[in-house]
Amino acid sequence: MTILVTGGAGFIGSNFVLDWLATCDEPVVNLDALTYAGNLQNLASLSGDARHVFVKGDIGDRALVDSLLQRHQPRALVHFAAESHVDRSILGPAAFIKTNIEGTFTLLEAARTYWSGLQGEARARFRFQHVSTDEVYGSLAPDAEAFTETHPFEPNSPYSASKAASDHLVRAWHHTYGLPVLTTNCSNNYGPFHFPEKLIPLIIANALAGKPLPIYGDGLQVRDWLYVRDHCSAIREVIERGRLGETYNVGGWNEKTNREIVDTVCALLDELQPDPAGPYSRLITFVKDRPGHDRRYAIDARKIERELGWRPAETFDTGIRKTVRWYLDHRDWVAAVQSGGYRDWVDANYTARAAAE
Ligand code: NAD
Ligand code: DAU
Repeated sequence: MTILVTGGAGFIGSNFVLDWLATCDEPVVNLDALTYAGNLQNLASLSGDARHVFVKGDIGDRALVDSLLQRHQPRALVHFAAESHVDRSILGPAAFIKTNIEGTFTLLEAARTYWSGLQGEARARFRFQHVSTDEVYGSLAPDAEAFTETHPFEPNSPYSASKAASDHLVRAWHHTYGLPVLTTNCSNNYGPFHFPEKLIPLIIANALAGKPLPIYGDGLQVRDWLYVRDHCSAIREVIERGRLGETYNVGGWNEKTNREIVDTVCALLDELQPDPAGPYSRLITFVKDRPGHDRRYAIDARKIERELGWRPAETFDTGIRKTVRWYLDHRDWVAAVQSGGYRDWVDANYTARAAAE
């Protein structure tokens, strides 16, 4: 058996691929366009491992997706590929429409054709697992109940609107065509290989470089935080035992304000890598807010616990400590991302090879 993963060179996708192959021997075909967010260095430990087949390509390339499905006959398609950064979606929404909506549409159509041609056990077993976000539900008042799976969709950014659109497409392909889909809506992930444009890795990288630590607005926006490996285990459970056509909210039961997050990261750095110039919190700088900034997200993750027995293994204290340590131990990874050096291998391998043909 084989699974096809999209976006497996990104933050969550690469953690998922590494986790998957650490827990079983089922091969992974990894389709990733290697946008700025895709980094094959995340998967360097799989170099030479025949269980991992990497394919550089776009989920919007129907012919490519069709050929991968036919060639590898996967029993599941796990769909991570997306444009994922809210701030980028505000500056340039077009790529979000293209990949998150049109790309998901292309995958659904390719999966429908493939699944329709399967017989017997292979057809019964196939799953399309769509990885989505809590941002589709919009923003919560401070005292409102956490998002359940039946909360109305009220997306507020181009990113969350594009993800909401993709969730609707996935739902419709199940109801109309019977495609065996599952959707997970997860809260903010953090952990290894998180691109340093997002809050936690940005704060760690800037602090170590002695740069300002930017907090948007008053910093009292609330997010629920989940250690990335816990998200990976939730997805594995949903693929194996989730009810077809259902959505499952995934969260860490860790609501924190952005100020608390930054303070916690600074305190851990003070402990693990003290700066002779003084506490890292001296670098905190309040900057102009993100337009349309959602005030609060909170996930009610009781359904996945009740139905599938999943709960996060990490508390925020254990997860954030591991994360800060990982960034301290992998400064070369951060440096390669910041310098753009992580893209050199791609140029050497793909551009140079194509030019030689
Ligand atoms: P990421 O930006 O780190 O990685 C995205 C990956 O998708 C990259 O490797 C990129 O090269 C690839 N990609 C982008 N466009 C592509 C295309 N057209 N074809 C093929 N590959 C393409 O994102 P992430 O943070 O790992 O998020 C993964 C998924 O999880 C996304 O769907 C996101 O919406 C969802 N999600 C993320 C979070 C979070 O906190 N990061 C939380 C909930 C849900
Ligand atoms: O909730 C799930 C979502 O979490 C995912 O769907 C997205 O793909 C993922 O990027 C993340 O979105 P956020 O916008 O919540 O993540 P980000 O790390 O960009 O910001 C987290 C919070 O920190 C948010 O309230 C904005 C704030 N922030 C962010 C940055 C980059 C700052 O205050 N300063 C910053 O410099």
